[in-house]
Amino acid sequence: MRLSLRFIIPLFLALGAIAYAVVPLVDKLTVQWFERDLDIRATLIANTVQEPLRNAIRAGNRSSLEPFFLRLTQDERLFAVGYCPVGGGEPVATPSLPSEIRCTDLARFSGEEGHVLQSPDGPLLVSVRPVDVEGAPAGMLVLVHDLSFVARRSAETRKYLFYFFVGLGATIALITVAIAQLSWRGWVQGLRALLRGEGLVRPDSFAAPELRPIARDLRALISDLEAEHRSRDDEQLAWTPDTLRAILQSELRGQEVIVVSNREPYIHVRAGDSVELWRPASGLVTALEPIMRACSGTWIAHGSGSADRDVVDVHDRVGVPPAHPAYQLRRVWLTTEQEAGYYYGFANEGLWPLCHIAHVRPTFRTADWEQYVAVNRKFAAATIDEAKSPDPIVLVHDYHFALLPRMIQEALPAATIIAFWHIPWPNPEAFGICPWREALLDGMLGSSILGFHTRFHCNNFVDTVDRLLEARVDREMFTVSYRGNVTAVKRYPISIECPPPAELVAKGVEQCRAEVRRRHGLPADHAIGVGVDRLDYTKGIEERLRAVERLLEMHPEWAGRFTFIQIAAPTRGRIGQYQEYEARVRAMAARINDRFAAAQHSPIALLVEHHQPDEIYEYYRAADLCMVTSLHDGMNLVSKEFVASRDDERGVLILSRFTGAARELPEALIVNPYDTDECATALHLALSMPLGEQRARIRLMRGLLQDFNVYRWAGRMLIDAAAMRRRGRLLERAAAAERTRPAVRARGGGGRRR
Ligand code: F6P
Repeated sequence: MRLSLRFIIPLFLALGAIAYAVVPLVDKLTVQWFERDLDIRATLIANTVQEPLRNAIRAGNRSSLEPFFLRLTQDERLFAVGYCPVGGGEPVATPSLPSEIRCTDLARFSGEEGHVLQSPDGPLLVSVRPVDVEGAPAGMLVLVHDLSFVARRSAETRKYLFYFFVGLGATIALITVAIAQLSWRGWVQGLRALLRGEGLVRPDSFAAPELRPIARDLRALISDLEAEHRSRDDEQLAWTPDTLRAILQSELRGQEVIVVSNREPYIHVRAGDSVELWRPASGLVTALEPIMRACSGTWIAHGSGSADRDVVDVHDRVGVPPAHPAYQLRRVWLTTEQEAGYYYGFANEGLWPLCHIAHVRPTFRTADWEQYVAVNRKFAAATIDEAKSPDPIVLVHDYHFALLPRMIQEALPAATIIAFWHIPWPNPEAFGICPWREALLDGMLGSSILGFHTRFHCNNFVDTVDRLLEARVDREMFTVSYRGNVTAVKRYPISIECPPPAELVAKGVEQCRAEVRRRHGLPADHAIGVGVDRLDYTKGIEERLRAVERLLEMHPEWAGRFTFIQIAAPTRGRIGQYQEYEARVRAMAARINDRFAAAQHSPIALLVEHHQPDEIYEYYRAADLCMVTSLHDGMNLVSKEFVASRDDERGVLILSRFTGAARELPEALIVNPYDTDECATALHLALSMPLGEQRARIRLMRGLLQDFNVYRWAGRMLIDAAAMRRRGRLLERAAAAERTRPAVRARGGGGRRR
């Protein structure tokens, strides 16, 4: 209605202005036409009365003229008639002839057209015509027409014109309102499709054909804006904590950020009477912790440490890092049953092997699933509890919380939810064996943005949705529309802090080399390789040890001159498959060391224990090579950490082709971990690689990590979230306009604010 008024009021004003200008003009023209007609009529009458008039003049019978004139004035329009003889004789006229008309000054009434005289009887048209007898001028005939009927007709014309314009305006307004009503819904739907980016791809999907011509312009505009962002993203920004803070302030107006993950960044562990602080062996924590230090906000995670409860406040919060708190850690407590079912059971015996396809059969139990749902609910409640605003930015991490995005979205529909899946996503056939596949997908599609490390995993996810859900998949924009929501599926390759934090590289490389060799009883020139992993069957630790054995078979000259140090952080120890795996790895290391016992130094040093980040960096910097042989890995940050740690530009990275990192670090020696000979050859190549080649390879990889560090990973997600919020606001405005229209509202629906 408001839209119609906005149109109709100007329409009436315009029509009023037209009427104001046109009516007097028409009036004037009408009067002129009538006057001209009457004057012509006067000529006609003068011609008609010439003969009887001449006869009367010739006969000198002037007395007959007055009755004759009176008969003429019976015509209602002829008001008066008079005759003025030449030479000033007595005039003859009807009594109605106005006194202003005198025979002595007839000159003022002569002329081609009549003269209008305003008399007390109203407006009169005076026409004067000559009369001649036998060719000689005999006098002047004066014909006076009543003009008052012209005024009457003019008033009538004005009245008709007024009604005409009113009618015209009303008709146009009615047609306009009808068209606007009919097309508004189409416009709104089209605009919403545009804003969601749907109509941009297939212009035929517009509900309103009128929008089609502008689709190309909008496409260009949006791609310009995105290009602008990309160029800022890719070329202009140096990605540091400050950059991230600036993005939060400018693009997201200081909006609060809430991170949810299972693993907490700091674990308080009881050690006798004191409390120790542990940093978990987790790629997720490695990546997210610097982000949180930069952005502040709240990190919600499972409080799993034996002393975790001792250090939190009444709200289960503790400021971290403990030395200089930069953000809040909110701990969520789980019962033993919940941890068993949700974490060990569904997440790590079900989803973990399902997504990694590393030859360990997934186990799905209904009881585990129920705990998984319950714990997701618990974390959703904690998130809602922590949210200070109705529209926070919530970053949900990993396969522990597939259901969380939907739960949060239902409680906080204005929140922007970014879910990041840190592990691979399998193909639809593999994922399809999960009994709760639809529920998991539905939960994930509650997010605004869903991130994976690689394009390959994005493709797998979109294929899975296409196969298993009644959803609309847009492969051009890479979005999924499901239950009225649109989720953008995007690739964000995770990374690390690069350059690394100063305290991790404070110890010089030579010192690291010397100390590590001394610790392991190795001579100064002894070659060292390192592997750093959680003791997980997806990491290919058995394959790696087998490659070391094969190296010594193929190149026996390395026996006693090379030791591979495998740091294996204990993990998920309650799961049978992990216990078996640890036993197999220990046995294999022992067997290989036995086999080469004759050599002065053992080929393998297996350290199954937790190490702090500074200790791990010391090993990275001490090593001649680092070997990553994951059988399947979303990204693998160990490979990136090793490269980043080598500011001396030495050392060789051997990297499994089945990691996300292999796509970004092609200068590594890329291997298939299932091919033992290839891995052994790579070990030999690495150990023999000239320093110049080592430098060239490491330099390229370090350059990439400096450009694509973890701040950029997080920054790109936040920039995308900000763009999505801007689009959401636009959509809100369109929806608000739509809400003012009851008919449209009745059939409304569609997208929600993201
Ligand atoms: O790779 C998936 C992941 O969640 C990583 O993000 C992290 O490095 C690792 O698993 C940690 O596993 P957990 O928390 O079970 O020890």
